[in-house]
Amino acid sequence: MSTLGKKLDFYAFKIVVPLLGIALLGALILGYVAFFPNKFTDVGYAPTQPIAYSHKLHAGDLKISCFYCHGNAEKTHKAGIPSTQVCMNCHSVVKRDSPEVQKIIDSFENNKPIEWVRIHQLPDFVHFKHNVHIQKGVSCFDCHGRVDKMEVVRQEKPLSMGWCFECHRIQNELVKSPRLEDAIERATKDEAFLEQLNHNIENYKGTTWVKGHDRRACVIEHCSYCHY
Ligand code: HEC
Ligand code: HEC
Ligand code: HEC
Ligand code: HEC
Ligand code: HEC
Repeated sequence: MSTLGKKLDFYAFKIVVPLLGIALLGALILGYVAFFPNKFTDVGYAPTQPIAYSHKLHAGDLKISCFYCHGNAEKTHKAGIPSTQVCMNCHSVVKRDSPEVQKIIDSFENNKPIEWVRIHQLPDFVHFKHNVHIQKGVSCFDCHGRVDKMEVVRQEKPLSMGWCFECHRIQNELVKSPRLEDAIERATKDEAFLEQLNHNIENYKGTTWVKGHDRRACVIEHCSYCHY
């Protein structure tokens, strides 16, 4: 064999083959995490909270704005959970005789925060920013379901990578034309994607996100968009 041939063999085995291997492995991992649910996709999780606080009563019937208690969602990455003080704005007077409200008063008087159980939780290596989404007109309901109808908050969406991608792809098609039906039709030309969309396409109809303007495309393929 000529020296050149040996050199080519060397490159083929020491560099090209491992590179192809890494690329294949990467594609498999990505395909797997994008399309299969895992331990972070706790749809249906609805733990019992230390106080029987009802979103249906406060946000639904009493029509208290989500931003009254989760105002940070507009300004920062986190939506946050309100402090006892926020509840006391009303409950220092309202329903003081209720045993549930008494727990709020105890928390306030003893300066002991209420230990609400966390429901939606991404793994540490994923970064999510509420403010970016809220400022672009994505509604709380698009990602959390109709919380204003829930007595006990329940996780409705998988919070998986595939779920983030699904909405970002429709967003990218909406940038080209603002009609949701057209955007979905184009996005669903991709068979694998179609499969994902079929089960919750209804969720996108009539959402405030769809009506938003000043759209930019989302850079789906940049891992550092969400992992950094
Ligand atoms: C009066 C205050 C108040 C209002 C108004 C309110 N929330 Fe909440 N929210 C809370 C409290 C307290 C918790 C933690 C206890 C619980 O999960 O029920 C919470 C929890 C949540 C969670 C779950 C957080 C987690 O741990 O993952 C979501 C999602 C949420 N709220 C969304 C909303 C939306 C959407 C609205 C408007 C429709 C809204 N909230 C209105 C006080 C409020
Ligand atoms: C803007 C006013 C307001 C705020 C803020 C508010 N509530 Fe209420 N809450 C009410 C009203 C009004 C009722 C219904 C009272 C009634 O049934 O007559 C109520 C009822 C309740 C009840 C049911 C009590 C019972 O036994 O019937 C609980 C529990 C409760 N609130 C917890 C909370 C918690 C926890 C917070 C803070 C995260 C909070 N509320 C913030 C106004 C408020
Ligand atoms: C684009 C999807 C999306 C939208 C829109 C959205 N959320 Fe969330 N929300 C999430 C995700 C994902 C998490 C988990 C974040 C994490 O673990 O870092 C979360 C977590 C939360 C939590 C738990 C505490 C926290 O800050 O992480 C609350 C409360 C909450 N959201 C309320 C809201 C409210 C209120 C709105 C509307 C004003 C809203 N969210 C809009 C996706 C969304
Ligand atoms: C319901 C639709 C929807 C869902 C679900 C969604 N996004 Fe988004 N996302 C958007 C929109 C709309 C934008 C803004 C595009 C623009 O700039 O106009 C955006 C932008 C972003 C950006 C860019 C932020 C920047 O600084 O420009 C990141 C990062 C992001 N999303 C992460 C996530 C992650 C992580 C998830 C899943 C946990 C997620 N998104 C789920 C609609 C969504
Ligand atoms: C739009 C946001 C977003 C982008 C962009 C993104 N990811 Fe993710 N990724 C997530 C979320 C959310 C999770 C956590 C939920 C899950 O495990 O499905 C995740 C989880 C993962 C995991 C862990 C899976 C597991 O089982 O624990 C790997 C590996 C991963 N991503 C690789 C990548 C690679 C490689 C890229 C670039 C090609 C990428 N991600 C781009 C949002 C994103």
